[in-house]
Amino acid sequence: MSTESEFDVALRAQMSSIEKALLAAVDSDSELLTEAARHIIEAGGKRTRPQLVVLGSKFGAPYGPGDRIEQQVCIGAVVVELTHVASLYHDDVMDDAAVRRGTPSANARWGNSLAILVGDYLFARASDLVTDLGLDIVRVYSAMFNRLVRGQIAETVGPEAGTDPREHYLQVLADKTAALISTSARVGAMIAGADPTVQDLLGDFGEKFGVVFQLSDDIIDITSDETGKTPGTDLREGVDTLPILLARRSTDPADARLLELLAGDRTDAAVDEALGLLRKHPAIEEARADVAARAEAARRVLDPLPDGPAKQALADLCDVVVTRTA
Ligand code: IPE
Ligand code: IPE
Ligand code: MG
Ligand code: MG
Repeated sequence: MSTESEFDVALRAQMSSIEKALLAAVDSDSELLTEAARHIIEAGGKRTRPQLVVLGSKFGAPYGPGDRIEQQVCIGAVVVELTHVASLYHDDVMDDAAVRRGTPSANARWGNSLAILVGDYLFARASDLVTDLGLDIVRVYSAMFNRLVRGQIAETVGPEAGTDPREHYLQVLADKTAALISTSARVGAMIAGADPTVQDLLGDFGEKFGVVFQLSDDIIDITSDETGKTPGTDLREGVDTLPILLARRSTDPADARLLELLAGDRTDAAVDEALGLLRKHPAIEEARADVAARAEAARRVLDPLPDGPAKQALADLCDVVVTRTA
């Protein structure tokens, strides 16, 4: 039996106070608004971004329960998760997604208009709270928010004629996903007053890790039936993710049917058939190899950091993103 380390116990306690603060942050005087805002938060999720805030904070001044730094770290963690959840409310409207975190999406339960407005409310709560963290963090947060939105817009618009679709795709991932993930790790370090070189290093780690995180989600969108989301959503929405971009380059006659499906209307039947073909296509392995190489590059960014449980936990996240199957 393995005993939990002091670090793990403290981390768990911090994450559990962040959970309470998250729910408290969306309390409102409207029962419907509170219920709709709590809906996806209570459905769970990995809490990767709050965890990155906490782990990033471990590279600054030491702090304990109840200290000002701990309170600020909790606010930072709530801000990034609220921002993430808000983006999911909007994303599910854009993707016409029926399930999220294993439960009916907000749009499925309350309709698109309310889901959009509750997403706005969550963004508003995050922007209220971030002001408690001071102007430097507000600036980092605003720049990130700009990138997140631009990334979602760029994905929706698609690559411009004459541009490389893979470059476009990677830029979309960096903006829609890595910006928030990078900000999470950086903000943790900023709150704890870590050295500016460490803040930059964690920001760089988050940029690289964030891209792999989304790449892996995009592979899983094709390969897994157990994500708590509808498989093949990217395919149905016409978003060309890495496995699809790789498959499109094939000149193998055996891929003729897949290429025909990718060129045609994305009906339910077409998406199902294309999913079946993609699941056994070598493009999946090729995309997985790309994920493994990029995860290793992200992990190497951590090298100059002092060894310890926080660095180990960040390195472990890089392993998880490679081995994840759902
Ligand atoms: C989903 O994010 C959207 C992506 C950026 C891939 P997560 O995979 O972090 O979703 P939850 O928070 O665990 O539900
Ligand atoms: C959305 O990417 C990322 C953001 C919400 C900014 P996806 O569309 O791949 O996310 P999922 O798969 O719905 O979680
Ligand atoms: Mg989506
Ligand atoms: Mg996805």
